[in-house]
Amino acid sequence: MCGIVGYAGRERAAEELFEGLKKLEYRGYDSAGISTCDRGEIFTAKRGGRVEELLPYLKALSGTVGIGHTRWATHGEANDVNAHPHACGKFSVVHNGIIENYAELRAELAASGHQFISQTDSEVVAHLLDFYYDGDLADAVRLACARLKGCWALAVLCADFDGFAVTRRSSSAILGEGDGYFAASDIYALCGRAHSYCVMEDGDIAIVTPRGITIYDCNLIPVKRAFEQLNEEGEEVGTGDCPHYMLKEIRQNARTIRATCNKFSYIPNLPALKKRLEDSDKIVLVGCGTAYNAALAAVRLLGGAYDCPVSAHIASEARYDPPRVTEKSVCIAVSQSGETADTLRAAEIAREAGAYLIAVTNVGYSAITRIADKVLPVCAGAEVCVAATKSYIGQLACFHLMASLNNIGVRMSELLKVAGGVEDIASGGAYARVIAKLCVQSRAVFFLGRGVDVDVAVEGSLKLKEVSYIFSDGYPAGELKHGTLALVDETVLSVVLICDEALAEKSKNAVEQILSRRGKVAIVTTLPHVYEEFKGRVNASWLLPPAPAHLSHFLSSTALQLIAYRAAVLAGRDPDKPRNLAKSVTVE
Ligand code: F6R
Repeated sequence: MCGIVGYAGRERAAEELFEGLKKLEYRGYDSAGISTCDRGEIFTAKRGGRVEELLPYLKALSGTVGIGHTRWATHGEANDVNAHPHACGKFSVVHNGIIENYAELRAELAASGHQFISQTDSEVVAHLLDFYYDGDLADAVRLACARLKGCWALAVLCADFDGFAVTRRSSSAILGEGDGYFAASDIYALCGRAHSYCVMEDGDIAIVTPRGITIYDCNLIPVKRAFEQLNEEGEEVGTGDCPHYMLKEIRQNARTIRATCNKFSYIPNLPALKKRLEDSDKIVLVGCGTAYNAALAAVRLLGGAYDCPVSAHIASEARYDPPRVTEKSVCIAVSQSGETADTLRAAEIAREAGAYLIAVTNVGYSAITRIADKVLPVCAGAEVCVAATKSYIGQLACFHLMASLNNIGVRMSELLKVAGGVEDIASGGAYARVIAKLCVQSRAVFFLGRGVDVDVAVEGSLKLKEVSYIFSDGYPAGELKHGTLALVDETVLSVVLICDEALAEKSKNAVEQILSRRGKVAIVTTLPHVYEEFKGRVNASWLLPPAPAHLSHFLSSTALQLIAYRAAVLAGRDPDKPRNLAKSVTVE
């Protein structure tokens, strides 16, 4: 959602914060702002729009301590006034999260003379700090937070103080040490600037100055938190030789499969994990968006491997209508960020009901890892593009490995082999361009498939609509004649996936049905005979490298990710920052 940063050191804070915000922009890009403090005076610049909008104002922000924010609007539209930081008296505040009781606090403070200028929930925090301040920043933070309900990561600048305070509850906040002292919503903002980092605990209050960081618990008792070395993520910064992160990250799909396999071999106690899965009375998976779509694939993989019911649940539904679990059940929370509020809550509910909780996540220090009994890492590296690509591929790899704990070596070599095919697809692009052009020229795009191809179709459709804004749907090919066929005409494209020999004849029927209604068709297949049969009869066809059906989703989903990327670029969209979306959805 939003991203917050803080800096205290010897350099000018404005430029340091600006760099940090640019790295966090994927968490929200509706508006941005920075406050710095210099000899008792606070300087602020904030604007609706992207972080770049702040560039002309940086020079005017003097001082070597400051805080910054990039916003994904929840309360109040994205404009200059609603942009953070919010100020009151000696305070300037940035916030990531939601203050659920802001309306009642606002009314209370207004009654004692406080005047509010924005429509945000966050402004109330600045006023509360001003209300409670008695010369001690940490104490004002403690007292203000005691009044809040909801979730927050806050960075607070006070004109009286050469530094800033950071605190959190349920939203992430990381501290960093390097050439100066840092705070940020996630580690990515610290890359290249800090040499070590520390994940703050819920309730912690950190006081960050140019001389160091002191951490207190919520009662202001000093606590020790471990700082860990910050290493490999540094290499991820920048788009490299690709014009966008989305393309760079699709090209890292193969690397992600290899790294996930490699890391899996070192997970401690795999025999115990196997036994837990074998003995479970049911396995339930929870996730949102792409992570849920990966869970659909897991249902097939784990369902084929373990002798118990396996089901996937959309986390925002599961938190209010939880699947029934027992102490013999396993709940698998799937989340790239590990911070998605609905997934966290659905997982917590399952755990409270006794289930063993496994987190399949790409972020090793995320909130989900702190509540899970077991963490299975997806080794995609930092995923910056809002659209999930390589993390989905990594999640698939992780589920394959979980499904083959009996004979993991064989599955690993299959995965490493298919990674080669994924690499070939990702580094090419001619077919993706042709199909992307058809997408852009169509009123709607449907993705169809059977068996393993259905899950790929659903995810391919999500990817296309989110980055290109073209209307799209993904569903089982057999369902075509039960409704959607009514929409098919010469303005509509159907992308038909045919990667399972056993189901190919049936999927071919769907193609014929669409062609006979003059619908446009693109075929994506791993089967040479299907390609030959339709080549020339359909608008486009893409023959992928051969792969057994159960592994074909690595190839076909890489192909669909590339099609979505190319369609976004052709349609003039920014694939890395789709409108209205943000990565890491930490609010309900
Ligand atoms: C789609 C996308 C979102 C996320 C969803 C869950 O490309 O990125 O649908 O998959 O918000 O996020 P995580 O996996 O971080 O829980």
